Amino acid sequence: MDKFVIKGGPRLQGEIPIGGSKNSALPALAAALLTDEPVTLRRIPRVRDIRTMQRLLVDIGSHAEVDGETIRLDTPRIVSSEAPYELVKTMRASSLVLGPLVARTGRARVSLPGGCAIGARPINLHLHGLEQLGARIHQSHGYIEAEAPEGLRGATIHFDRITVTGTEDLVMAAVLARGETILRNAAREPEVADLCALLVKMGAQIEGAGTSTIHIRGVEKLHGADHTIIADRIEAGTFLIAGAITGGDVTIADCVPEHVGALVAKLLQAGAEVTQTGATSVQICAPKRLRSVDVTTEEYPGFATDLQAQYMALMTQAQGIAIVVETIFENRFMHAQELARMGANIRLEGRQAIVAGPSELTGAGVIASDLRASASLVLAALAARGETVIDRVYHIDRGYEKIEAKLARVGGQIRRVE
Ligand code: EPZ
Repeated sequence: MDKFVIKGGPRLQGEIPIGGSKNSALPALAAALLTDEPVTLRRIPRVRDIRTMQRLLVDIGSHAEVDGETIRLDTPRIVSSEAPYELVKTMRASSLVLGPLVARTGRARVSLPGGCAIGARPINLHLHGLEQLGARIHQSHGYIEAEAPEGLRGATIHFDRITVTGTEDLVMAAVLARGETILRNAAREPEVADLCALLVKMGAQIEGAGTSTIHIRGVEKLHGADHTIIADRIEAGTFLIAGAITGGDVTIADCVPEHVGALVAKLLQAGAEVTQTGATSVQICAPKRLRSVDVTTEEYPGFATDLQAQYMALMTQAQGIAIVVETIFENRFMHAQELARMGANIRLEGRQAIVAGPSELTGAGVIASDLRASASLVLAALAARGETVIDRVYHIDRGYEKIEAKLARVGGQIRRVE
């Protein structure tokens, strides 16, 4: 298993280019199942989760041609409507093929994704929505079987709670349903809007994408399309925090500044100078001493739960007490113990983490757990005195393309050890 060896200390300086969004690419890949014509997707990040989804689509019947960051998917026919446990257990986003498979073939057999490090993460809202669209759902042997032999019909669906992939799954089911579907309390994440932009290019009729009420008018058939994925706002946020935690001066290029608005507001309150230097670039100049600022994670446009771990690492270096509240997942503080091993002063109380700073971090041997917790360990290591070895970096490779190369180009002393 690969490890990262990081020597803390250098102030990061320079420009980091941001890649395409993993969480936009995953539903976009699944959307290719909705048509028998070729779909070309550009700016696809070369990360593990994308390769996993690609393998799943090929098993289902897609022909995939990869050329750098462009994937051309052609699914003339579905040969298997099944997402096997072996794949789903490695990536829960495999449940994104549920909606497209039921919409295209009238059936799907998808392994129930187990829980994961950050929580139980059920898909009950996905299934309930499919039932309201007329699918019959049956669960056995750890698999979900969804059937709609007469096709799906439009319905009004009100989500009990906001779910990103639940919204995406049901948008993809509804675009080929008979009649109109209204999704209420839908997720407003940019990745949902990006998926809808692709579907509209494919001929779908969707209004309200990016708002909490999405109107879909079903159509007979969708055609192929060519779509470029939006920039990864979580990668952008992670590198903004890398600039802040090292007292550096870093410009994030090729991003969507608006998508990191909640984080930028916190960094400004903490005393950093953050300026939009162009349509797709944001510069951060860190202050000598950061101020502690509380944060509560919320659905978009609130502060992203996927940046909570990285922000917690930053607050270990800030002056004062920061209260970090995680409202989206029930167990997303694993990074706290690892940060504490490096010298951080963090007290956990249920959904709250109380971070007292600044505390001097020293390099240590730590273990990555989930994707974003691992990113927070990288950030802490950049600010720690001495050397940190992070084991199991495959967690990081799931969602960050060549993170060590991007950090090294702005002065980070980080190398991958096979
Ligand atoms: C998406 O996961 C992202 N993944 C996650 O990013 C992100 O953390 C999450 O949204 C929240 O923003 C992808 O887009 C591939 P949810 P998702 O459904 O859709 C509960 C990363 O690091 N819930 O919005 O699975 C659920 O347990 C990953 O890139 C139900 O109870 O998240 C959670 O507490 C991690 N029943 C809350 O809702 C359901 O049917 C939000 O989950 C669905 C969700």
